[in-house]
Amino acid sequence: MTKNPLFTFAIISLSMFLVSLQSASADDSYDVKENGPKKPIVWNKPIKATFVHEVHTVDAGIECSSCHDDIFFMQRGVAVRSGKFTMAAMAEGQFCGTCHDGDGAFSTESNCMACHTVSEDPIIWKTPTKTSFSHKSHVEEFELECSDCHSGVFSMKIGSSIANTDFTMAAFKDGKYCGSCHNGDDAFSSSTQCESCHYPPTEKIVFNKPVKTVVFDHDIHINKAELSCESCHKKVFAMKGGALEGEKLVFSDDPAEKRKYLVELHNKFCGTCHDSSQAFGYLTKCTVCHIGVKGYNKMNQGNSNKDTHEKSGH
Ligand code: HEC
Ligand code: HEC
Ligand code: HEC
Ligand code: HEC
Ligand code: HEC
Ligand code: HEC
Ligand code: HEC
Ligand code: HEC
Ligand code: HEC
Repeated sequence: MTKNPLFTFAIISLSMFLVSLQSASADDSYDVKENGPKKPIVWNKPIKATFVHEVHTVDAGIECSSCHDDIFFMQRGVAVRSGKFTMAAMAEGQFCGTCHDGDGAFSTESNCMACHTVSEDPIIWKTPTKTSFSHKSHVEEFELECSDCHSGVFSMKIGSSIANTDFTMAAFKDGKYCGSCHNGDDAFSSSTQCESCHYPPTEKIVFNKPVKTVVFDHDIHINKAELSCESCHKKVFAMKGGALEGEKLVFSDDPAEKRKYLVELHNKFCGTCHDSSQAFGYLTKCTVCHIGVKGYNKMNQGNSNKDTHEKSGH
């Protein structure tokens, strides 16, 4: 055996290093009896909140008896089952609020994010249009406070806003709801980039009235033709089904009048683009849209038209 003091020193330092490593990995040094359960206690409903024993017993030096069993039982879930585990109760000095009153520890009136994490899942409204809102991006990415929205703009209950008749784009324009920030100053205006908030329909839209059958495919227009939602939904169409159904047939015997009306109708809607400039012209290709009808004549009640190549065989 060597008696090299340097070697002995090396062994001692190594073992000291290992010991220090061990105490650094808290799992081994953390005494559950002394300090309470190691694993954070997490509540998920109605909102995610986390309590960590170590922070309170080790870091803040609080005795078990300060909480158990006057404020909390030593059993996970009891507080929630009481049905009274709310912010209102905490504000009155119960539960976490016994200490978290801005005096003994930071207050529950603010600092929401110290105890809460927001849901990863976006809130989705299905009607009248499909829309989504992400807590995660607003809180974590854009660093907004809960109170920026939850003191006046929105209640903390899914379904509250949609129950109001004024949860609409018109109200947003007046600075309500999402429009309180999405005004072009604090965040992008809600009269732009509709696709950030709205989903396009995945099914093809079929117009059956007043004539059969025009099929409109969002997919082609958005993905192939690369049109923005606004190019149609600000001026041409409302973002809801049924707008065209209100259009009425002109029961006129005068072909000129009838034609004038058709030009007007098409120009007002699909024809704003389908005029041979941005997309194929409606005057020449009736049946690309009117797939339920054979040829131009039937639609135009026999009034033939020199412009069209779509004359039917009969
Ligand atoms: C600052 C308050 C506080 C202190 C101090 C505290 N606890 Fe707790 N403890 C809680 C809360 C809150 C719960 C969860 C109660 C509930 O869900 O109703 C809990 C739950 C427990 C549970 C049940 C865990 C489970 O999974 O069911 C045990 C065991 C426990 N505590 C042990 C201790 C011990 C041991 C100490 C002291 C070393 C201690 N606690 C100190 C607040 C505290
Ligand atoms: C007996 C008093 C007491 C109770 C009850 C109590 N806390 Fe605390 N808590 C403290 C003290 C003291 C601190 C440290 C000082 C501070 O941060 O203000 C603290 C700190 C915290 C922190 C900060 C952790 C960090 O990373 O700095 C969180 C989060 C927290 N408590 C959550 C809770 C929750 C959730 C409850 C209820 C389930 C609760 N506390 C109940 C006294 C308490
Ligand atoms: C000291 C920790 C703590 C702080 C700070 C805190 N909360 Fe809570 N909160 C909790 C706990 C614990 C619960 C109960 C767990 C649950 O309901 O899922 C809760 C429950 C809630 C609930 C559901 C019950 C209810 O009261 O309706 C809402 C909503 C809520 N908190 C919002 C907030 C907001 C907003 C803030 C900031 C203004 C905030 N909390 C600050 C710990 C805290
Ligand atoms: C940018 C706005 C905004 C911010 C910031 C925000 N929320 Fe919300 N929150 C909403 C909207 C919108 C709803 C849905 C309300 C409705 O349907 O009327 C909602 C709903 C909720 C709900 C009820 C739905 C659910 O998931 O159970 C809770 C709880 C909630 N928010 C908590 C918080 C907390 C905690 C914070 C801060 C960490 C926060 N929110 C920050 C906009 C916001
Ligand atoms: C900042 C997000 C956001 C943007 C941007 C946005 N919307 Fe909305 N919109 C909503 C929310 C939220 C609702 C209400 C919930 C629902 O209808 O699903 C809504 C509702 C609607 C509605 C039904 C209610 C009403 O006002 O008639 C229409 C139509 C609509 N939006 C069209 C548009 C159009 C067109 C654009 C682009 C010019 C647009 N939206 C941009 C969030 C947005
Ligand atoms: C308190 C202010 C505030 C309110 C209220 C608010 N937002 Fe935002 N929102 C922001 C900010 C800030 C950004 C980031 C800046 C930007 O993109 O212009 C943002 C970005 C977004 C984005 C793009 C990023 C992402 O999450 O994909 C969407 C979508 C969005 N908001 C939807 C909504 C909807 C829907 C509502 C209403 C239910 C709403 N916001 C209410 C402030 C707000
Ligand atoms: C080329 C034109 C065009 C573009 C671009 C377009 N839409 Fe549409 N959209 C329509 C037409 C046409 C309708 C049906 C209107 C009607 O029935 O009166 C419609 C209807 C809708 C509806 C209502 C569906 C229903 O059944 O009520 C939603 C929602 C919608 N669009 C969302 C979007 C979104 C989101 C975008 C952008 C990503 C978009 N649209 C882009 C033409 C377009
Ligand atoms: C904002 C402009 C715009 C509006 C409004 C518009 N379209 Fe289009 N559409 C296009 C463009 C661009 C193309 C792709 C270029 C082309 O085919 O000429 C296209 C292509 C098409 C196609 C061919 C799809 C294929 O098979 O490739 C059909 C069918 C069609 N549109 C039907 C309609 C109908 C029906 C309407 C009205 C409900 C309508 N479009 C409104 C711009 C528009
Ligand atoms: C770009 C697509 C498109 C093209 C091309 C097109 N139409 Fe239409 N047309 C429509 C839509 C959409 C409607 C309204 C929905 C419906 O009636 O089903 C409509 C409605 C009509 C109507 C019923 C209007 C009424 O109130 O009586 C007639 C008739 C008609 N079109 C004739 C024609 C003729 C003729 C052509 C060719 C010269 C033509 N369309 C080309 C999309 C188109």
